[in-house]
Amino acid sequence: MSRVMVLNGPNLGRLGSREPDVYGNQDLSALRVLLVEKAAEGVEIDLRQTDDEAELVHWLHEAVDARTPVILNPAAFTHYSYALRDAAALVTKAGIPLVEVHISNPHAREEFRHRSVISGIATGVIAGFGFDSYVLALEAVRRAG
Ligand code: DQA
Repeated sequence: MSRVMVLNGPNLGRLGSREPDVYGNQDLSALRVLLVEKAAEGVEIDLRQTDDEAELVHWLHEAVDARTPVILNPAAFTHYSYALRDAAALVTKAGIPLVEVHISNPHAREEFRHRSVISGIATGVIAGFGFDSYVLALEAVRRAG
């Protein structure tokens, strides 16, 4: 494994100022620094964020074509995007690991967050550990690879 795509969905570009009581005070560039520090030697962290469902779908197609493992925080798309689920299924059905991550624990929050349409096709799910959810996912991807 020489690269991991760390894909982030809508509103995660606002980390740092968005609901700090839920998501903490650190932004995506701090997450990038943390993951680069934790990644094994020679593993590139390709961290991206978009508010656009189609862009996220295209990035998952790119992961399939390049056979690149994915750490995916689908954000609100988690709860209703069948397009994203179908794209994520392309990844895992190709035998490429895809770990769904959440900063918060959606199951401890509002009812609408309890359902994930992604989890059923993900390799695994890690939620509720703040940015450490991504660090744990990186380790899971390393072991899966
Ligand atoms: C989230 C949880 C989602 O319910 C929410 O819509 C997000 C962030 C998380 O990382 O905890 O935007 O995926």
